[in-house]
Amino acid sequence: MHTIEVIFTPALLPHYVIQGKTVVVIDILRASSSMCVAFKTGVKKILPVSTPEECRMFKDFDFIIAAERNAQMVDGFDLGNSPFEYENPVLEGKSIAFTTTNGTKAIKQAKAMQAGAIVIGSFLNQNYLCNWLLKQNNDIVLLCAGWKDKYNLEDALFAGAVIEEIGASFKIEDDSALAAHFLFQQHKNNIHDLVKQSSHAKRFTFLHLQTDDVSYCLQQNTCSVLPIMEDEYLVAITAIAPLLGSATGSAVH
Ligand code: MLT
Repeated sequence: MHTIEVIFTPALLPHYVIQGKTVVVIDILRASSSMCVAFKTGVKKILPVSTPEECRMFKDFDFIIAAERNAQMVDGFDLGNSPFEYENPVLEGKSIAFTTTNGTKAIKQAKAMQAGAIVIGSFLNQNYLCNWLLKQNNDIVLLCAGWKDKYNLEDALFAGAVIEEIGASFKIEDDSALAAHFLFQQHKNNIHDLVKQSSHAKRFTFLHLQTDDVSYCLQQNTCSVLPIMEDEYLVAITAIAPLLGSATGSAVH
């Protein structure tokens, strides 16, 4: 039986072996949520980038450039990291160069550690993600992006939701997976009330965020898409392009 592990922040990565495993990068508020919305809108591909300076360069290569730091859009970019921004139909068919405080960093760290597959998980694509994970016949790592290498509530909560949905099909050996699952079991009927108490929700309030990104990112199963890393880019496996061919299915470019 394959294992499912939870890594609460990328700072803990050196203590784990993820090479060859299927890694789900979780950044509920908001990178993984925004990425799922982007692919639902029809974005062609997303290039995760480390810094705003590097990201800005891609403007010259016909990319939409998106950057968030400290929960705010970086000046001079086309987009920030609110999922509402990624509903815009003008993004259909576009390529986005994207850098965020935590989410894109976690993706690149997983890639550097030679994960077997890297996918993006959020409440928005939870069922689609879980159905795909069950077909992978591989060890699963749920990598929480956290906040600047610290634990955050919402990413751990989603890791627990995944374990609630598919954990019976895996061997669970680490306490972080148990803790994440217990957290979800205790709050599955009031996830909004819980997450609104989180440090990141409070950060949004302090910054007078004009949109209710927390409620948006806690919607469930509104996106039948699975962002997956192919070489340097995230592309999407979607319900339109079913999981044909290899276990990872055919990605829609
Ligand atoms: C991110 O998505 O990397 C961050 O968690 C922050 C944000 O988008 O507010």
